[in-house]
Amino acid sequence: MPERAPPSLFNLVDALLIAADEALRSLSGAATAARPSPRAADDGPASPEDRTVSARLMRVNHTGEICAQALYSGQALLARRPEVRAALQRAASEERDHLAWCRDRLGQLGARASLLDPLWYAGSFGMGLASGLAGDRWSLGFLAETEDQVEHHLEGHLHRLPADDRSSRAILAQMRDDEGRHGAAGRALGGAELPAPVKAAMRIASRVMTGTAYWV
Ligand SMILES: [Fe+2]
Ligand SMILES: [Fe+2]
Repeated sequence: MPERAPPSLFNLVDALLIAADEALRSLSGAATAARPSPRAADDGPASPEDRTVSARLMRVNHTGEICAQALYSGQALLARRPEVRAALQRAASEERDHLAWCRDRLGQLGARASLLDPLWYAGSFGMGLASGLAGDRWSLGFLAETEDQVEHHLEGHLHRLPADDRSSRAILAQMRDDEGRHGAAGRALGGAELPAPVKAAMRIASRVMTGTAYWV
């Protein structure tokens, strides 16, 4: 199918306003979930030390979801094929659930979001735009690789969470399943395999993000 022309200036201004609205919603905590949080009924973890560990891990995941909102927002802005844009928007709506669940969980653990979230949002939005500019095949490939790396990261956190933090675990398990589906959708729509150095650079960026959001 032929790719459609890039958006006109008028459409671009319109789209930029929507993108600004998405940024404000994500960063202010106003994003709401369409699906109920999969969290457990009990209020673990019991020990204050474990609650601190859980809060730090969930802060990292919340920042990851802030980045996901920004990436999808930037990518959707420049997507060429309508079905690609629709897939990005579908996935972004599930990412909004993740964001709201993580935010909600942070509140239950008495913790705040990372102070650096606006910075990560801006950087991720720029990466989303860059991958969108590269065209749908690369943008979808970038999406699939991001989702693979997030899925792998979530597996790690599922092991690191305190044993009695059933709520965070239920949330991360649902997120991992959703991310797997997003990645598969990106590949099914024709996502290209990214060059190894790009994948490595993405891993480094995500390590910087997870390392700082754990503490700040
Ligand atoms: Fe997510
Ligand atoms: Fe995802």
